This record gives sequence, structure tokens and C-alpha cells, in this order.
Amino acid sequence: PRSSRNPEMDRMVGTKPRLLLLNKADMADPAATSRWIQAYRKENRVALAVDCRSGKGISGFAPAVRQQLLRELLEKRQAHGMSGAPIRLMVVGIPNVGKSSFINRMAQSKRAKVEDRPGVTRTKQWVKIGNRMELLDMPGVLWPKFEDQTVARRLAFTGAIRDQVLDGEGLACALLVLLRDRNASALRERYRLSGDLPEAGYALLEEIGRRRGMLISGGEVDTERAAAMLLDEFRAGRLGRVTLELPPEEVDAEQLRTLRLNQGGWEVLVELLDVFCHVLEKIPLPLAKLRELFVNAAQ
Ligand code: G4P
Repeated sequence: PRSSRNPEMDRMVGTKPRLLLLNKADMADPAATSRWIQAYRKENRVALAVDCRSGKGISGFAPAVRQQLLRELLEKRQAHGMSGAPIRLMVVGIPNVGKSSFINRMAQSKRAKVEDRPGVTRTKQWVKIGNRMELLDMPGVLWPKFEDQTVARRLAFTGAIRDQVLDGEGLACALLVLLRDRNASALRERYRLSGDLPEAGYALLEEIGRRRGMLISGGEVDTERAAAMLLDEFRAGRLGRVTLELPPEEVDAEQLRTLRLNQGGWEVLVELLDVFCHVLEKIPLPLAKLRELFVNAAQ
């Protein structure tokens, strides 16, 4: 949820009230979704898990807007005799997160999709959704440069960054390492893998390609094809319900491996502390506590 947020969004939205929709909840680990909702609640943000394909969770939207997000504003409007004025909400997010699907669900119709390509001429489309609310569909844009490569990678896993600009095999290998840690049983089942899964992502990709009969001359595995297949299947939800990112105060092993600390030019690469990671893997620790731990270790 956080990786897909435009870092400019806070500045652009300013103090306007915001409701966070955690869409595609059907593809996410339900326990992780609850943790995200809790984490946002702690920050006094209104967040709602929805599945715009089936419509699950959608009925909570209007009450969340009226009773939580805009409660004060609506009370003021009522006091001024303006309770009939429509509530206008803008739907923003990167491409492919389900903005159009959400609006279609709310409007209970199939509308034309707003063009995601920048520079394409378009008119404002306010869509009435009943309950005196209107939604504005906006084209999704990705920001031009990713400061954090973990963020870029997560977005690439989901298909938010176009595959043409990516190294598909490298991406598939990284995804396999993550899936092996998170949901090995789904991998085993889907690709009929038995025994210990190989440690290296590439070896695992080869194994999967072999299982699917993706061979080229000489009996070698066509890893490029296997990578494309794997990414497609992951994005279609066939490799189980996976949440790529956990709330920031709770760090998991994958995040730990990439966490770096700078102490007066002294850089501690957490990769070197993999042993630690194994011990901590199952124990989510508050980030501050973890930093303290490593800072002490670095001194
Ligand atoms: P966007 O406007 O933000 O760009 O996203 P859009 O609604 O076009 O949705 C992008 C893809 O995500 C669509 O799939 C859509 O069906 C799917 N999607 C949207 N919401 C959900 C959800 O809650 N759960 C799941 N599993 N998928 C969702 P597509 O394959 O690109 O199109 P289509 O085959 O549905 O036509």
C-alpha cells in the first residue's frame, strides 16, 4: 500500500481529507490487510479494504466518507442549511490499481476508462454515484524516479512498471526468493515442486521452467519464457494471496535485508546480518527498536 503512493501526494493533496482504499484485497494476505488498516487507524487515517472485482467492502465506502472522513464538514453544512450540496471526491492512484473498476462499481455501470498516457486530452468526468456523491476519475501517473529500489521492485512485481523497461528474469528471480520465504506451499502446489526448494532464485526459476516443459535446444530451460509466465501468474493471483509490504513499524526479513544504516560515514549493510534476520524473521519488531539494535552493534 505504501510503495504505490506517489511521494508527491501529501504535498499535492495538502489538508484535504483523504480516504485510503486498499483495493485488490482479494489478492492480499488478509492478516496483512488487517495490520495495514490498524496501522492507518493509529495514524488517524481512514482506510478501507475493498475488492472491486467482486464488490466486497464497497458498501462501506459511503458510510466511511460520511461518518468518518467528512463528519465535521457535513455537520457544518447541515448547520448552514446546505446538507443537499454534493460531496465531490477525486480518485487518484498509479495506473492499474483499480480506479476505474472502483468508479464503475460505485456507479454500477461500465464507463469509458480514463486514458493513463500523459498528455492525452481529456475532459473532467464527474460521475454521480448516488447518495449525493460524485467521483472524478483521474489518469494514473507514476513518478519519474524511484529513490528506493525496493519500492521500484514491488511496483514491478505487480506490473505497475511496464515490463518492457525491466529485466524480466532478474525480477522473476527476486519474486521467487520472496515467495519462497512467504508462501512456499503455493509455489510447490502450483508448479508441482517437491523436496527442498533451491536457495537461489535462478535455480528455482529453472526448476519451474523445467516443470512446465519450457525447454530450448540442448535441454536448457527457456528462463526468459519461464520468467514471463511466472510474473503473469503472480499478477493474476495464481500464486496465493501475497502482501508485498507490511506496515513500516513492523519490519520483515525482506525489508531487513535491504535496510541500511549510516553512522558517521560508517555504513552497515544489513545483508551481513543475515543470521540475525533468520532469528528475527518471525518476530515483527518496531523499527525504532531495530534501529537502536543495529546502531549499538555498529558502535
Ligand atoms: P486503473 O483504472 O487504476 O488503471 O485500474 P483498472 O480499474 O483498469 O483495473 C486494472 C486491473 O485490475 C483490471 O484487470 C481490473 O479488473 C483489476 N482489478 C481492479 N480491482 C480489482 C480487485 O479488487 N481485485 C482484483 N483481483 N482485480 C482487480 P485487467 O486484467 O487489466 O482487466 P479486465 O480483465 O478486468 O478487463
